[in-house]
Amino acid sequence: MLDQRTLSRRSFMRRVLGAGVGLLSLEFAGGTLAFLWPNITEGLGARLRVGRLPELVAAQPTFADGYPMSVSSARSFLINVPAATALASGSPRRVPAPGADQLIALWRKCPHLGCMVPDLCDSVKRFQCRCHGSTYNILGEKLERGPAERGMDRFAVEIEDGDLVIIDTSEILFGAPEGILTFTDPHAPDTGCA
Ligand code: FES
Repeated sequence: MLDQRTLSRRSFMRRVLGAGVGLLSLEFAGGTLAFLWPNITEGLGARLRVGRLPELVAAQPTFADGYPMSVSSARSFLINVPAATALASGSPRRVPAPGADQLIALWRKCPHLGCMVPDLCDSVKRFQCRCHGSTYNILGEKLERGPAERGMDRFAVEIEDGDLVIIDTSEILFGAPEGILTFTDPHAPDTGCA
């Protein structure tokens, strides 16, 4: 009788242990799957809702004057093209409500070796990578200085519902090769940030 009870306890303990190990394995497998599963609602690879234009301009009024807006979720600079080119040309113009075809998103990953491109420098209104000095105009087009072979890569920008800005990071649009420019600012092509 005593032996039977002992066996039954042992068997019970084995089952409890087995169930515990099973639960732990399930939890581990679930956690691994959740980690590996692509997240398509946020981060790179998603269509990111940046915000409504009036709210973006209210949050950063200089965006309407052509200063790039850093969008950390898209690791990009949002560029208000007409205002930005006016700013870099030295004749600032306020454009508070650019259309989708007047917006570009420059990926901050330098096309040379991947360093993060810092903010626009105020001296010449250009971007210059700190790693090896590649320099880009305000539209991210590659100038003479530095080893990168193309301009900054981009993501498509859309506007939905009238003023909701979307950056589509599901596809990388490669920058044009060095020397192909749609905009030239007044500084010499080999001038970098001071
Ligand atoms: S990583 Fe930017 S210039 Fe080399």
